[in-house]
Amino acid sequence: MTEVPLPGGFGNTVVRVGDTVRRTPGERAGFVHELLRLLERRGWPGAPRFHGIDDEGREVLDFIAGHVAWAREQPAGLRSDACLAAVGGLLREFHDLTAGTALAGDREVVCHNDLSPKNTVYRESGAGLRPVAFIDWDLAAPGDRLHDVAHVCWQYAGLGEPGTGVAVAARRIRAVCDGYRLTDRSGLVAAILWWQDRCRRGIESAAMAGEPAMVRLRDSGAAARVRGAWEWVAAHRAALTRLLEGEELSDLA
Ligand SMILES: Nc1ncnc2c1ncn2[C@@H]1O[C@H](COP(=O)(O)OP(=O)(O)O)[C@@H](O)[C@H]1O
Ligand SMILES: [Mg+2]
Repeated sequence: MTEVPLPGGFGNTVVRVGDTVRRTPGERAGFVHELLRLLERRGWPGAPRFHGIDDEGREVLDFIAGHVAWAREQPAGLRSDACLAAVGGLLREFHDLTAGTALAGDREVVCHNDLSPKNTVYRESGAGLRPVAFIDWDLAAPGDRLHDVAHVCWQYAGLGEPGTGVAVAARRIRAVCDGYRLTDRSGLVAAILWWQDRCRRGIESAAMAGEPAMVRLRDSGAAARVRGAWEWVAAHRAALTRLLEGEELSDLA
C-alpha cells in the first residue's frame, strides 16, 4: 500500500498507510503501548488505537481523520472559550481514566506531557472546531494533573505570543480550567513557569548532549521561544494570578 508522509511532526517521520499511521516508537514505547491499550479497553476515543509493530519496526496506530493544528496560521475558533474548554474536558477524561491505575504508579495520573494544538486532532462539531483526540503519546508518563493542565494553558492559550494580552491570556486559561473543572487554581501560574523552564532546560541539555532532534529543535529557535514565553508569564505573574482568582475580566478582555 502507498505510504503518504504526514506533515506537522518534528522528531519523527510519520506516514499514513490506509487507515493507519506508522511511526518510529519512542524511548518508552512499552509504557505508551500499555497506556494506549488501557484507553482502548476503556473505550476512550481520544487516542489512537495501537495495532502492534510492522515489519519495519514501526508503530501501527489508527489514523484519526480531522484537522491537526500544526501550521502557523490556524482558524481563530481554536482559541474560542468553547474550544479551549473542550480541550480541558478531553484532558480531564484522559486523566480520570488513568487515576489509580498501575500505569500511574504512585502519582495522581498518567500525563501526556506533550499536549499542544500540533498534537491534537480537531473536527467540525456544528458549533465550530472541537478537539476529538490527542496524538503523539511518546512522552506520556506518571505525573500530576496540574502539569498537563499547565502545559495545555501555555500551548493552547498562546502565552507569550505577540498580540496576546494578559486579560485575553487569563480568559483563555480560565476556559481551559473550567473545561477541566480545576477547582484549586492557586498553583497554576507557578506550574506554568516551572513547566516552561523545565522544557527549555530539557531542550538545551539534550541538544548539548548531541541528540539530533533536540539540536534541530534548539537551532530552530525553540529554546529561545520557550524562554521568551517564560519571561512573559513571569512578567505578568501577579496580574494573571489575580485574574485567575476571579477578578472581573469583562473590562479588560
Ligand atoms: N494517529 C494519527 N492520526 C492522524 N494524524 C496523525 C496521527 N499521528 C500522527 N499524525 C500526523 O502526523 C504528524 C506527526 O505525528 P507526531 O506523532 O505528532 O510526530 P512527532 O513526534 O514528530 O511530532 C501530526 O502532526 C499529524 O498531522
Ligand atoms: Mg507531534
